[in-house]
Amino acid sequence: MLNQICAIAREAGKIILDASPEKQVEKKSSRHDLVTYYDKFIQDYIQIRLKSLCFEASFQGEEGINSSSGNGMRFIVDPIDGTANFIRGMNRSCVSIALYDGELGEIGVVYNPYLNELFCAQRGQGAALNGKPIHASDVKIEDALVEFGTSPYQPSLYDLTFRIARAAMDLCMDVRRAGSAALDICDVAAGRGDIFFECSLAPWDFAAGAIIAREAGCMVCNMRGEPLNTESKSSVFVSNKYCFSPFLALLEQLPDI
Ligand code: IPD
Ligand code: CA
Repeated sequence: MLNQICAIAREAGKIILDASPEKQVEKKSSRHDLVTYYDKFIQDYIQIRLKSLCFEASFQGEEGINSSSGNGMRFIVDPIDGTANFIRGMNRSCVSIALYDGELGEIGVVYNPYLNELFCAQRGQGAALNGKPIHASDVKIEDALVEFGTSPYQPSLYDLTFRIARAAMDLCMDVRRAGSAALDICDVAAGRGDIFFECSLAPWDFAAGAIIAREAGCMVCNMRGEPLNTESKSSVFVSNKYCFSPFLALLEQLPDI
């Protein structure tokens, strides 16, 4: 099943690469929240391909038209994570596909077609990038590179987000905001970054990355240090094991978390 899901993610990635400049951009909830023809087209494509792979599993994707089944197996899909980057030609977007059995993450696949980088993991079997094992870094908090997202669809979280980023500048080496939560989380899984946080993400943004990061030896939880819940929106905190406690202590000092 893992190999077949990887193949589907690669096919979807090819559609991203071949996309025409005319992307038919629409606003969803606000001017911060965009969707293109390709987000919908790729989600439909992935849904059909996954259905033929595992008919019994239900399907949840960012662009609606979800299906449910009673057996607890669920595909959670973001057809394009980093839609704003895709629209603006920033070449940092990915396809994200996860398979969960209830709350247990079984398979995570994140594919960045621009760099031809495929991150994947299966529960209990470690994580890999293009077939080679990846591991969290052993960088300490003072040297840590912190990746974060701005929860752009929730203006009420902007102040908190930037207070944490400001505090991280005193505690760590530097911060990055690169526009795809799934790829940011995979960076931490691969030891390129050391910490990721975002005050609110939807399950399709983090479901696959969380499995990959956990299998790579990262600590993965919400910003209160509690287990992640893929049934609803959640804050997300991913860290190597050395930075986990000091960064959680920073988060706990902030009253609104
Ligand atoms: C967004 C990206 C972004 C994050 C947002 C997500 P989308 O997903 O992952 O980095 O900050 O919270 O919604 O809309 O590009 O699929
Ligand atoms: Ca997304």
